[in-house]
Order: sequence, then structure tokens, then C-alpha cells
Amino acid sequence: MIGIVGCGLIGSSWAAAFLRGGHDVVVFDPAVDGQTLRERTVHRLSVDASGGAPPSAPGRLTVADAFDALSGCAYVQESIAEDASAKRALFSQLDRALATETIVASSTSALCMSDLAADLPGRARFVVAHPATPPHALPCVEIVPAPFTAEEIVMRTEALLSGIGQTPVRLAHEMPGFAMNRLQGALLLEMIDLVREGVVTPGGADALIRDGFGMRWALLGPLEAVHLNAPGGINDYFTRYRAMFDGFCPDGTRLDDLLTPQTRAALQEYCLAETPLSQAQARRDRRDDALAALRAWRAERAV
Ligand SMILES: NC(=O)c1ccc[n+]([C@@H]2O[C@H](COP(=O)([O-])OP(=O)(O)OC[C@H]3O[C@@H](n4cnc5c(N)ncnc54)[C@H](O)[C@@H]3O)[C@@H](O)[C@H]2O)c1
Repeated sequence: MIGIVGCGLIGSSWAAAFLRGGHDVVVFDPAVDGQTLRERTVHRLSVDASGGAPPSAPGRLTVADAFDALSGCAYVQESIAEDASAKRALFSQLDRALATETIVASSTSALCMSDLAADLPGRARFVVAHPATPPHALPCVEIVPAPFTAEEIVMRTEALLSGIGQTPVRLAHEMPGFAMNRLQGALLLEMIDLVREGVVTPGGADALIRDGFGMRWALLGPLEAVHLNAPGGINDYFTRYRAMFDGFCPDGTRLDDLLTPQTRAALQEYCLAETPLSQAQARRDRRDDALAALRAWRAERAV
């Protein structure tokens, strides 16, 4: 049984993702009436965002009217609003009520678990599982352990989420904003700056991503993508465009300060394992076919 505590935008989407994955789910959100919670979740479940055939046997949904209903859960996904003191109080309550082996994962966007659960006797079972929004449609979830989170808890969380079709990405350690929002933040801050400088309109900034890199990123990660954009792969790419990247670096720094030999080797190893240079043209051809199909699909389907 999976428990969802807090069933707003994120909790209801998590509930749908777990139900679709075949798990029985109990949702608890005392501020919202049961009928609304059921409708929210079922609505999300009815939108087939699985990218494949809906499961023949989705799990059973229970709307709990008491906290005690969570006591039989093997995994609880906390999804209450982003308020550190409310999360601390809830975690303390959960730690007292749940069996010792139950995992408590938080959907928090930016609060570190070491700041939320450090004082609890069962702190080793607490971990951040921060989803891309909405998790029933987007697979990526970043897993952020605190220094006290048990390795076994991280591994069971990854296995559970992989089992329902999510893509867990584990961070080595906590860092402000984790990784997903740091990446989004870097892009948004640059867009804001370009608008502020009067270089581009807000609509133009959105179009540059929506109708440009964003379409490519729907198919390839940014690193895989630039690997295909130079004949010698990613190393060749950063050599050809070194002067441009030097120009983006903060004062007094250059690309090579970030792209150390060790980092360069790690990027190269990853990209060549994904696409050896001998297969790069075939992958470019598949990319181009997929982009044409994506473009045609978008023309028919406004969001
Ligand atoms: N909205 C996003 O884009 C997004 C993306 C990723 C992660 N998150 C994170 O997910 C969490 C939830 O965000 P949201 O957008 O779903 O918020 P929301 O306001 O839509 O939903 C929060 C729900 O929690 C309920 N709640 C509050 N205290 C509770 C308690 N003690 N017990 C049970 N239920 C309680 C509220 O009644 C509400 O329905 C936050 O930590 C947020 O940072 C949000």
C-alpha cells in the first residue's frame, strides 16, 4: 500500500502514477472533502499519460478520513505545501505512526531533508523524491538523500519508482535547489536577463526554447544533443565553440575552469557510450525523422 499525504496538484498526480503502476493507494488530506480528492485523482488517472497501454489492473484508491489509515503503508509520498515547519511537524507524526521499515519520501521542491528530519529517531527512512510536474505524465524524479538517509532506503525508493515507469535520478548529496530546479533556474534567469536588457521579448524568449532547443530536448538530453552537433562528438563541440563559452563564463573564469580534464573525460565517456562516432549520422537521421513527426503532431495538437 502506498500513502499520499497532501493531495493537491502533486499529491493527486502521484496517486494516479502509483495507481496506474498497479499499487493500492490511500490518500490523506483533511482540508479537502473525500469526493473532491477522489475526482481529482481519478481525473488524472483517466488522462492516459503513460506513453503506452494503460494497465489492465490499476490499483485500488482509498480516501482516508483519519491519519491512522496510513499505518499499513510500505511507502508514503509526502506532498503537502512547501512549508518547512508544517513538513517537520508531519514527519514527526509519521515517524511515530509508521512501521520502522516504511519509507517516507518528500515531494519538496527545494527543502533539504537534513533540515526537516535530522532530529527524528527514524531519520534514516526519510528521503526526498522530487518529481517533475506532473509526475503521472513526466517520468523524471530526483532522489536526494540526506547524509543520514540509509542506502537501503534510497535503493528501495529507486526500485519502487522505476517499477511504476518513473525515471529516478539520484543526486550524490543535497544542494540548494537540488539539480532539476538549478537547471531550470539557470535557463529562466538568463531569459529574464535577456528580456530585462531588451534583447528579446518574453514571447521571443519562449519561442527560442519552445520551437528550438525544447523540441530537440524532448528527444535528446542537452549533452547527447551537442555530441551530435560536431563531427568529432562532444569534445570536438566544446573545442570548436570554446571562445563562445569563454564569453559566457563569469568574469575571470573560462570554459576550461569548469570543463576540467576529468569532467571532459566523463562527458566524453557518457556520450560515446550513448552514440559511438561511427553511429552518429544514423542517430542524426533518426533525430531528424522524430523532429519532423513531432512538428506535425504539434501542428495538430495545441496545448
Ligand atoms: N506544483 C509544482 O509545480 C511542484 C512541483 C514539484 C514539487 N512540488 C512540491 O510538492 C509539494 C506539494 O505542492 P502542491 O503544488 O501539490 O501544493 P498544493 O497546495 O496544490 O497541495 C498541497 C495539499 O496539501 C494539503 N495539506 C496541507 N497540510 C497537510 C497535512 N498536514 N496533512 C495532509 N494534507 C495536508 C493541502 O490541503 C493541499 O491540498 C510541495 O512541497 C511542492 O514544493 C510542487
